[in-house]
Amino acid sequence: MSITIFSIETSCDETSAAILRDNQIMSNIISSQQFHTEYGGIVPELASRAHISVIDKIADAAISGSGINKNNIDIVAATIGPGLIGSLLVGLNYAKSFSIAAGIKFIGINHIESHLYSCYIGQEIIEFPFIALIVSGGHTILFLVNDYFSYKILGQTQDDAAGEAFDKVAKMLGLGYPGGPLIDQLAKDGNENFHVFPKSYLKENIYDFSFSGIKTSVLYYLKKNFISNSAGPAAISLNDISASFQKAVVTALTEKTMLAAKNFNVKNIAVSGGVSANSRLREEFNKYKTEGYKISFPKPVYSTDNAAMIGYTAYLYSKYSRNRNFEKNIYKPAFARFDYNKF
Ligand code: KG4
Ligand code: ZN
Repeated sequence: MSITIFSIETSCDETSAAILRDNQIMSNIISSQQFHTEYGGIVPELASRAHISVIDKIADAAISGSGINKNNIDIVAATIGPGLIGSLLVGLNYAKSFSIAAGIKFIGINHIESHLYSCYIGQEIIEFPFIALIVSGGHTILFLVNDYFSYKILGQTQDDAAGEAFDKVAKMLGLGYPGGPLIDQLAKDGNENFHVFPKSYLKENIYDFSFSGIKTSVLYYLKKNFISNSAGPAAISLNDISASFQKAVVTALTEKTMLAAKNFNVKNIAVSGGVSANSRLREEFNKYKTEGYKISFPKPVYSTDNAAMIGYTAYLYSKYSRNRNFEKNIYKPAFARFDYNKF
């Protein structure tokens, strides 16, 4: 018998709702908060208020667009963290109220875990074990995934997330927010060997990441060659700087992920999260296919935040009878604090 899932995602600046019938996405509505652009980054209080103003419409659109009667929904799922607390509370309370009113089950879903499974949506299932790189605006984490819901964290960023570095460098370049897609686009016409921005190698744990050094070296480069250069703006090519910065980030991400794959003798790799939409990152990882690696990315629409991946993860929990409720963890800021091996 099939199950119908209604899912909500509001952890950051996307208000999203989806309907799934088992693993099939029947609808997936995403509303992105464009107004943060004028602040050069997300303003949490404004994000929460904007979620409140659209959640009803987005949820209704997902239900009506799915062709499914809302009386036939079996499970309601919502992101319970990590994320912006005010934003999370909007989606969580909406979903819980819906589940209480309809008398149906509620499942709280971890946002990062759902990014990991976003690679499965509408694509081949990745065989275990696999290495998962989750690379978003708030997180950069490398996992060894042994089975459903069985994760070992190998490394993570010690400072900025990779997406955050894209966003901050874009701000320095006066490009707007979110910076990742803008830099990705500019870099296509740039020379990535124009300047070498140093990568940091962390000695304590080789699988950890650091992006603040790259970001700072872009800042110093700009100060030296742009702000204090009498030649003025013409002296700098946004394309070349974007391409060179992107190369440094992409190289750090691919090198560490592939090192883990080699050391753990794992042939399957899954790369997800907002930065997995990056065209250069995809190209670099895909090169390893010739060495016998299987590389999976989400379909582009499931790279950045969406409710379909939340519903999909709820589907996996219901299918494999592991209906854990993460609800109590909503106040915990980072995935790193969850010890998944204990569940
Ligand atoms: O997963 P996501 O939508 O939200 C979080 O969970 O953080 O990721 C958003 C991040 C932003 O930092 C954005 O700049 C980055 O993903 N991003 C990209 C690209 N598209 C989105 N970064 C690099 N290249 C892209 N094409
Ligand atoms: Zn995300």
